[in-house]
Amino acid sequence: MADKILEVKDLAVSFKTQYGILQAIRGVSFDLHRGETLAIVGESGSGKSVTSRAIMGLLAGNSIYEGGSIMYQGRDLTQLPEELFHEIRGSKISMIFQDPMSSLNPIIPVGKQIAEALIFKMGMPKEMAKKRAIELMESVGITNADKRYSQYPFQFSGGMRQRIVIAIALANDAEILICDEPTTALDVTIQGQILELINRLKKERNLSIIFITHDLGVVANMADRIAVMYAGKIVEIGTSEEIFYDPKHPYTWALLSSMPNLASSKHLDAIPGTPPNMIYPPKGDAFAPRNKYALAIDFEQEPPLYKVSDTHYAATWLLHPDAPKVEVPEAVKILQRQRGRVKK
Ligand SMILES: Nc1ncnc2c1ncn2[C@@H]1O[C@H](COP(=O)(O)OP(=O)(O)O)[C@@H](O)[C@H]1O
Ligand SMILES: [Mg+2]
Repeated sequence: MADKILEVKDLAVSFKTQYGILQAIRGVSFDLHRGETLAIVGESGSGKSVTSRAIMGLLAGNSIYEGGSIMYQGRDLTQLPEELFHEIRGSKISMIFQDPMSSLNPIIPVGKQIAEALIFKMGMPKEMAKKRAIELMESVGITNADKRYSQYPFQFSGGMRQRIVIAIALANDAEILICDEPTTALDVTIQGQILELINRLKKERNLSIIFITHDLGVVANMADRIAVMYAGKIVEIGTSEEIFYDPKHPYTWALLSSMPNLASSKHLDAIPGTPPNMIYPPKGDAFAPRNKYALAIDFEQEPPLYKVSDTHYAATWLLHPDAPKVEVPEAVKILQRQRGRVKK
């Protein structure tokens, strides 16, 4: 397998709130390999954005770092000295948010914002930076780039703004691109184009991508691996093929069953109930109260992360050798039957 570029281990972050301490992420571990797309999926509130903000060093002021490490090139980013902060975060590791305006300066022409990254971070002379910025705009699919160089963010559509943010990341020579719901605010056609762009850049530049989404459907054709998050933990992780065609965790089953546009569309099931209040995380498997497959032990004791294959792990008591065999939901059966017939 390709080399590791990022290694997140036992990462835990809480927040002080007026109601008490909220445990947003509770021991998140994963590796990111060079040139791969790792998707992190889960319902709203599961801790996806907190995970990505922790990597970027962008946690809110009321956050409490509870422990864990984020290794990048032999350095623990959680212990990074101030002077190295901007060399890595926002540069080698760049992030794209749902709202591109949050990373663009509204009063500076877009081309100049790209050129500034080249001048200040890469030390490029001004004229060369302008030329290169225009090339980068073209490479992310902005036509008439030489004219549009001088335009302001408000003169661009949402999809085009997202392309500019991506061009800035490229100007920073990013190795890791963290995309946090980058297409959620865009309509479906534009969404597809942005996904295509991210995919192409990944291949052309051997970028490593963390792609965060609440929608498994979005990553079906682009993720190499998928981590499924629930209540601040990764409950299942595996290759895309393993998560789609051989899922083991009932929460992953529920996510798959609630996906429209799959073979399973006739059996579309919303996930019943709501995620837990993380000020009072439930005992045992946090998904148990919503899980019709829950065993008695799920309400008492947290399941270990069972190994399914070298690339596939899931935290569910159903994988215990003595667990009863259960009938998986219809949607999952349909997917399992497709396995082997589907070429990636
Ligand atoms: N600054 C904050 N203060 C208090 N709670 C927060 C803060 N940021 C995030 N949270 C809480 O942390 C949990 C995880 O949030 P988040 O990572 O944003 O979820 P998502 O998976 O939707 O991206 C949620 O319960 C959220 O309400
Ligand atoms: Mg989020």
